[in-house]
Amino acid sequence: MSLDLTQFVRNIPDFPIPGVQFKDITPLLGNAQAFDAAIEHFAQRYANQQLQAIVGIESRGFIFGAPLALRLGIGFVPIRKPGKLPAQTIGVDYSLEYGTNRLEIHNDALQAGDRVVVVDDLLATGGTVVAACDLLNQLGAEMVEAAFLIELTFLGGREKLGNRPFYAQIQY
Ligand code: PRP
Ligand code: MG
Repeated sequence: MSLDLTQFVRNIPDFPIPGVQFKDITPLLGNAQAFDAAIEHFAQRYANQQLQAIVGIESRGFIFGAPLALRLGIGFVPIRKPGKLPAQTIGVDYSLEYGTNRLEIHNDALQAGDRVVVVDDLLATGGTVVAACDLLNQLGAEMVEAAFLIELTFLGGREKLGNRPFYAQIQY
């Protein structure tokens, strides 16, 4: 019987602003068995997918993406917030509820045709992961799936993703 990871996700009311129920994953990260179970779950799902790399989205996507890449024996590619990557990048701007944000990737991080899984902790409105998909498209990489620990189903991320494949271990 596999571990129920929901018991390691803590609800924090009114963070970061009143009315928001924040899903805090730090208890899961702080428990070696739970953290391992989350990584192993993804590893079993993607072990036979002939992936070239795991792509992680800064910041919390790094926490799950890097150990997954190591476990699968493939490389890790970071998608970062603006101005952080030192070599030549491509970037994409995307809108948030208030204002805009930007994500960047090194333009030599992947080859056209590379099969990758994009990893993040959370699918909320989907704006972040769709921006990441846009970057991968620009490089000609093939996103086999977007993988999340948690999907907040009431925020419409799956609609925003359209027909792009995605998977989440936990749904609220
Ligand atoms: C959070 C979360 C996802 C994103 C999901 O990241 O880690 O990346 O929001 O939201 P969306 O589906 O509505 O785009 P955040 O930008 O808060 O920063 P962090 O990962 O650096 O903590
Ligand atoms: Mg994030």
